[in-house]
Amino acid sequence: MKLLTADMKLAEIVHSNYLLIPVLNRFGIRLGFGEKTVRTVCSERRINLEFFLAIVNAFSNEDFFPEARLRTVNVLTIVDYLRTTHAYYIHAQIPRIERLLRSLARSKTRRTKGVVLAQRFFQEYKRELLAHLKREEEVTFPYVEQVYRLHRSRRSRGNKDLLARYSMRAYEEEHDNVDEKLDDLKNILIKYVSSGPDDDTLNTVIFELFRLERDIIDHTRIEDTILRPIVAEMEQAIQRTAR
Ligand SMILES: [Fe+2]
Ligand SMILES: [Fe+2]
Repeated sequence: MKLLTADMKLAEIVHSNYLLIPVLNRFGIRLGFGEKTVRTVCSERRINLEFFLAIVNAFSNEDFFPEARLRTVNVLTIVDYLRTTHAYYIHAQIPRIERLLRSLARSKTRRTKGVVLAQRFFQEYKRELLAHLKREEEVTFPYVEQVYRLHRSRRSRGNKDLLARYSMRAYEEEHDNVDEKLDDLKNILIKYVSSGPDDDTLNTVIFELFRLERDIIDHTRIEDTILRPIVAEMEQAIQRTAR
């Protein structure tokens, strides 16, 4: 996959990988950008160009991960992007998969056992995923914002309390892989749900599960290799000034 650059037209980016459309939406970019380049759209919408390029390139190419360049991006921008991604899972992707599974269950041509099993699996998965996202939104992200503010203000009082309650090390320990179970679910649908005249819904739900899996792997990679090291460095700097 070729490297996506600032002077490419945004439309070219979509042509290079249509799965980036929802990623553009997360930056507040909607379709209908005509002939505008990435640079122009980013400057119009006040999007950090480096961050945008890093995210779209990383999404399209697993080997591309410019940790060093991303380290210069404001951590609040990263958290904002991660929160918007969570909202996409919660309000778009999860309900879409549930709707598709319900529609599969209604189809008389399916072997219902496999579909019922898949629905049960997805409900379990949904519970786990929502708990994961909630924990990050209620504990991890607010903590990151507090660390960022403290680091900026260079105040030392109260810092130890904050760092004693939570840390990037604790995040590392609790941060589990939320993509693994999706594999089992895909397998149930691929191996045990027989195709019928209405293949389309079954195919679509499998495509959507692959898409969710890929999106979550990319999301987790940003959390583990970008967010965590940046905040851990801030923690260390705060510890040093608090001494
Ligand atoms: Fe997350
Ligand atoms: Fe996560």
